[in-house]
Amino acid sequence: MPNRVLVCPPTYFEVRDVKNPYMKGSTINSDKALQQWEFMCRALRDAGLTVETIAPVPDLEDMVFAANQVFVGYQDKIGKFIVPSEMRYLSRQREVPFYVDWFAARGYRIIALDLAGECLEGHGDLIWHPDRSRIWAGYGFRSTRGGIEKFSAAMKELEIPVHPLQLVDNRCYHLDTCLCPLNHQAVLIYPGAFSKEALTALRQGWPRVHELTRDEVLQFMGNGIVANGRFLTPHLTPHLGSILERECLTPVVVDTSEFEKSGGSLFCMKVFLE
Ligand code: ARG
Repeated sequence: MPNRVLVCPPTYFEVRDVKNPYMKGSTINSDKALQQWEFMCRALRDAGLTVETIAPVPDLEDMVFAANQVFVGYQDKIGKFIVPSEMRYLSRQREVPFYVDWFAARGYRIIALDLAGECLEGHGDLIWHPDRSRIWAGYGFRSTRGGIEKFSAAMKELEIPVHPLQLVDNRCYHLDTCLCPLNHQAVLIYPGAFSKEALTALRQGWPRVHELTRDEVLQFMGNGIVANGRFLTPHLTPHLGSILERECLTPVVVDTSEFEKSGGSLFCMKVFLE
């Protein structure tokens, strides 16, 4: 896995409207959010990652969720590239150009898709298999099936297979809320979040599928970050602890309660760089 991440300070972070079920009736404590975000950055550095930041923009209240605005990839023939997102909500669509500019200034090739009314929400729904052999792609709540199809067609030209996975539980509205790769062979999932076909594809694609409970997944334990033998997670249960032990990962608990009120946690708040 890459060793650099991009994050965005939560300077203008708030909950203004309800884009997912977690956001209902939430108010954010900005000081606490900033402390939690800084603690997360420290935990990422302690895990050996280099942390880069993009400047927050006034009025873009969800820009802290850096996983969504672009998909980041690398392919031998073309080098490092991004695929800009088409966000479902207009307020979030306005974040995309700022991220695209950040990546363009650093030499990433831009693969712009003609999404024509379809949605595609970056690493919220598009997750690399850790060996980079393929991409798992969630759809149903935010990214659309059509968006995933257009993304797949573009990746096909780069010879990268994309496996669509239909999401069926609105509390798991992004794939990164209910699927978290631990290593090349093991993945954490919440089975109730997936259609029958999606579950079959997951069981065929991963030698070890570890199942989280719904309670665990609602506390964003499927939204952790794997970094150099550590698993950064917002909460820990004995059950998750024993899965991590089996996969030789050390849990590090990083509180993200303010961000969970907006429907996101650790995985959502960074994007891995190439
Ligand atoms: N409030 C944000 C939204 O609904 C949360 C995004 C969480 N990001 C993620 N990658 N799951 O768009």
